[in-house]
Amino acid sequence: MEKLKESSFVPSIKLLDAVDSTQNIAQRMAEEGAPEGTLVIAEQQTKGRGRMGRHWVSPPGKGVWMSMVLRPEIPLQFAPQLTLLAAVALSRALMAIAPLDIGIKWPNDLLIGGKKISGILLESTAEDERLRYVVAGIGISVNLEETDYPPELLEAATSLRIALGRPLERSEVIAAFISQFQQLYTLYHKEGFAPIRSLWEARSITLHKQARLVTPSGVVEGTPVGLDDRGALLVKLAGGEIIPVFSADIKLPAG
Ligand code: BTN
Repeated sequence: MEKLKESSFVPSIKLLDAVDSTQNIAQRMAEEGAPEGTLVIAEQQTKGRGRMGRHWVSPPGKGVWMSMVLRPEIPLQFAPQLTLLAAVALSRALMAIAPLDIGIKWPNDLLIGGKKISGILLESTAEDERLRYVVAGIGISVNLEETDYPPELLEAATSLRIALGRPLERSEVIAAFISQFQQLYTLYHKEGFAPIRSLWEARSITLHKQARLVTPSGVVEGTPVGLDDRGALLVKLAGGEIIPVFSADIKLPAG
């Protein structure tokens, strides 16, 4: 990890040992004025959190548990676009350093062979409907072994080490992510969400397959057909109507 270098995009890297959640540390630093790109990386999280209030398994030294402060000048409603951008950046980073075929499950799960290897949690802080800052949390199961997972997770989760049959250097994974993220974030500021949407759609394993979506307001059955400008998943219902879904757990058909 010491090999990681600060850069014009990542002006400061805070390497920590055990923390509750890197999200909490990065949020505190953002409140104290930390600039865009500030990165907090921990060896271990005792209360790593995932989407929908889930626990995120973060054992010591085996994964990348990190949070980045972002200060984009965009309307609050467009913040979810950055989750999709981060998912594309991470999939490209991992495929650049190892022979992996990575699919993105909406909105931001990275899967290998149907099993999750990474998750992204974007937390936005706003005031009077104005976005103040975003903390993008990224968890990558790099060198976890089967024994690191609770048995009930093994069906659905894997690591890069298990997929590749060899360990990877975590600092290499982080450096590759920073490089891809910087490129796509620059593209996003120049050209907007359209090119990011195309890249996301090309890596997606969620589109054009009948799916069951468990949303906070009930179950939706339909076929995801694309993304709208807010990053919502557009789902075509049996009657032909297309609706945006902002938050859901998706069950895809097997295979
Ligand atoms: C998910 O798939 O549900 C998102 C998981 C996000 C986990 C990362 S690990 C680093 C950062 N700190 C946290 O507590 N969560 C995110």
